[in-house]
Order: sequence, then C-alpha cells, then structure tokens
Amino acid sequence: KTNVLDDVQIVIHKTILLGDSGVGKTSLLVKFDTGKFESGKFSATVGIGFTTKVVEVDDTKVKLQIWDTAGQERFRSVTHAYYRDAHALLLLYDVTNKHSFDNIRAWLGEISDYAQDDVAIMLLGNKADCGTERAVRRELGERLAKEYNVAFMETSAKSGQNVELAFHAVAKELKCRR
Ligand code: GTP
Ligand code: MG
Repeated sequence: KTNVLDDVQIVIHKTILLGDSGVGKTSLLVKFDTGKFESGKFSATVGIGFTTKVVEVDDTKVKLQIWDTAGQERFRSVTHAYYRDAHALLLLYDVTNKHSFDNIRAWLGEISDYAQDDVAIMLLGNKADCGTERAVRRELGERLAKEYNVAFMETSAKSGQNVELAFHAVAKELKCRR
C-alpha cells in the first residue's frame, strides 16, 4: 500500500555538474550511478539531462536530482538557464589539464552571475588516478577552493576515489541547509 503523504514530503535537491568539456562530468555521474567506468571513448555530452539518486545521510534519505551538462562552449547559454534553481553545484576540472583548472575562475564568475547566492559549491579535481600525467598539484586546488570558500576534493571516475564521498558530502550539506 502506498502512502500519498510520503510523496508530498519528498524534497528534491537539484545538483548540477559543471566544468569544461572532457573533465569527466558524465563519467563521474555514471560511476556514481552504476559503478561502471568506460575508458577510451569520449563522446561529448549534447544537451542536458538528469539522474535521480537517493543518498542516505544519518538515517535520512536525501534525494539528489543530478544534472549532467554539456561542457562545450556552444552549449553554455543553455546551461545558464538551469543555474537559477540549483541547490548545489559540482564544479570539475581535470588534474591532467591545466587549462581546465585555469578556467575555474571563469566558471565561478558565471556561477555568481547566474546561480543563487546561497548555492552550495564543491570544487572537484577529477582524474586523480592519472599520476604521471598530472599537471595540477592538489595544493593548487585546495588553495583555490579556500580563496572562494568552497568545498574541495580530488576524485577519479576511473578508480572510484571519493566519488561516493563527494555526492554524500553534497547531500549532507543540502540536508542541513534545507
Ligand atoms: P562534456 O560532456 O563534453 O562536457 O565532457 P565530460 O566532462 O562529460 O567528460 P567525460 O565524462 O565524457 O570524460 C571525458 C574523457 O575522460 C573520457 O574519455 C573518459 O573516459 C575520461 N575520464 C573521465 N573521468 C576520468 C577519470 O577519473 N580518470 C581517467 N583516467 N579518465 C577519465
Ligand atoms: Mg559529458
């Protein structure tokens, strides 16, 4: 027997993945959703879509609606429309791609232009599994996050490092705030 009132009380936490094309937004979400990682083939996301995941925080179920955006420049104006009602933003760069890290300041600028002031932001340095190709030291990410007063983690969609933890941290933050 379903209880109609249960549905009424569900709070949806809208979370958006942002960052340059190729940093691993789709891979991170797929890893979190299915536990799988496909290496080698890169197909850039076109358009926008979401996946719903329930994360348990201190015995409470927190429902995250996670939007995967297209990082390519030509899709930016479409993405802006989704910022306004977002509760959390996961902003990714690729630790093997210095350019994607340098662009983070521009991304944070767009976020302050289009998102709500109280949006929860987490900066993620993805592809942390790529030891030898690393171009951005962990400390640089930490420092930038501190400067903008946002949370920070290094992740890997390939190894799974901090993937659950990152989404769990977002769910916990949103549960506390809302
Ligand atoms: P757009 O959709 O264009 O914005 O790109 P995206 O950010 O969704 O990137 P995507 O997840 O498609 O990943 C780009 C490429 O990087 C793919 O070839 C992935 O296999 C690879 N990749 C993603 N995450 C990781 C990671 O953590 N480690 C390694 N080694 N490769 C990764
Ligand atoms: Mg993608």
